[in-house]
Amino acid sequence: MTVLHESADIDRPVEEVYAYVSDFATTEEWDPTVLGARKLTPGAIAVGTQFEVVCALPVGSVTLLYTVQALQEYTRIELRGTCAFFDVEDVITLSGTATGTRLDYRAVFHFKPVVATVAAFSQKGLEKMGRESVAGLAEALRDNFPLKANSRATRIADKWVLPGVAMFSRLGYSLGRKRFNPMSAYLRNQHMMVTGASSGLGYAAASELARRGAQLTLVMRNREKAERTVAEIKRVTGNTAIRYELADLSLVSEVDALVARMKKRGEAIDVLINNAGALFNPRQETAEGLEKSFALLLVSPYRLTEGLKPLLASAECARVVNVVSGGMYSQKLDVDRLQMPDDAEYSGSTAYARQKRALMVLTKLWAKQWRTDGITVNAMHPGWADTPGVQDALPLFRKMTRPVLRSVEEGADTIVWLAAATEAGDASGALFLDREIRPDHLLNSTREAPQECDKLVALLNGITGSR
Ligand SMILES: NC(=O)c1ccc[n+]([C@@H]2O[C@H](COP(=O)([O-])OP(=O)(O)OC[C@H]3O[C@@H](n4cnc5c(N)ncnc54)[C@H](OP(=O)(O)O)[C@@H]3O)[C@@H](O)[C@H]2O)c1
Repeated sequence: MTVLHESADIDRPVEEVYAYVSDFATTEEWDPTVLGARKLTPGAIAVGTQFEVVCALPVGSVTLLYTVQALQEYTRIELRGTCAFFDVEDVITLSGTATGTRLDYRAVFHFKPVVATVAAFSQKGLEKMGRESVAGLAEALRDNFPLKANSRATRIADKWVLPGVAMFSRLGYSLGRKRFNPMSAYLRNQHMMVTGASSGLGYAAASELARRGAQLTLVMRNREKAERTVAEIKRVTGNTAIRYELADLSLVSEVDALVARMKKRGEAIDVLINNAGALFNPRQETAEGLEKSFALLLVSPYRLTEGLKPLLASAECARVVNVVSGGMYSQKLDVDRLQMPDDAEYSGSTAYARQKRALMVLTKLWAKQWRTDGITVNAMHPGWADTPGVQDALPLFRKMTRPVLRSVEEGADTIVWLAAATEAGDASGALFLDREIRPDHLLNSTREAPQECDKLVALLNGITGSR
């Protein structure tokens, strides 16, 4: 038997420390020996909840199955982990202090006979591991991370178009992930709105934010899907503070009605995630006479964000996250050609990329204008992620790139980070990929002229939604 015992003082209230530590899947963020961790049991964390934790060994790795043995809200968490080489009992106790929380971590290892002798020799190594784990947890909970400067790999990639584009693949994510900081921000008092949450990146982001405790309003257009989505996220995460609003976001009248309902509710919005999107081939128009990608990808987030501004301004420090696309790198803002009225000129990918470029321009404008309102506005692009949207709209692209496509969770990671991470609140007007600021232009020829930005706002303000 080997006993490890470490303590730390954390400058945060016990309920925040408890919320983070009791979800043992967070070990992935703070324990340097953990390669990956996930919650296996659906629902709120309770006695019997299981976690799979993969730990590095001097040679290879080992998978531990942890089960919650006892829970006393805000004061005590007991877990038992088992694997081929040992069993471990972890007891984490929390107590309030004048400045925050005292965290006490005790781990008792029972080694299987085959490894007991080796373990006896490596007592010092185990003690070091225990110290590093609790130090990592304390650092995660102190949550005092600066916005990171770009890595050497991304600095080099951004100088060249092809390596820059290669970072859209899962390679970019796996390189970026190595530098990710823990996210221990307390979200239970945060109200976040996610558009397009029924599928793909929106669903993945909403699920992860729900797991981290946020109160969610999910905007979807189909009642049946909306009910299914909310029920599933509640079931998996145990978070019950999730509701939905219905709106076809390609219709100005429905966006306006949504804004009116939200204003009537009067609840502050801490985070607005403009994610809903699609790529349309061939050219289509809405019942209101607008080209569909223009209506959904540009008019809708413009009207929604402008309309909800009073609710964003009434939150303490609100954030807007606009989901754009690497496709915008090929386009320059050209306001007269946004709707591509000429059918012969129309291409779904070009129309899509133009709206995303324009949304990036709006991101920078809002960031400047709303600085004094305490609202930050950033854009992210997810890289290439294997979502139903990509499967439907770009089947050939998907077939060719499938081995390098990101998972939906990997694609959604920076949405979650921009919404939830404390340090992400320090940025505004920037474009992110894999939690790093990236250039919003790869080519000088796509830079917008200031008068074109004014023209864009005038155009969007002039849209009424009636034919
Ligand atoms: N996946 C990628 O590699 C990638 C790359 C760059 C950018 N993006 C961007 O990421 C965002 C999410 O895309 P995704 O790949 O996750 O696509 P997805 O799986 O098709 O999800 C799109 C979501 O938007 C919703 N939506 C579409 N039209 C709508 C409308 N008229 N009104 C309300 N909601 C509507 C969809 O609802 P329904 O379920 O009802 O259809 C769905 O929830 C989009 O803005 C996309 O442009 C994705």
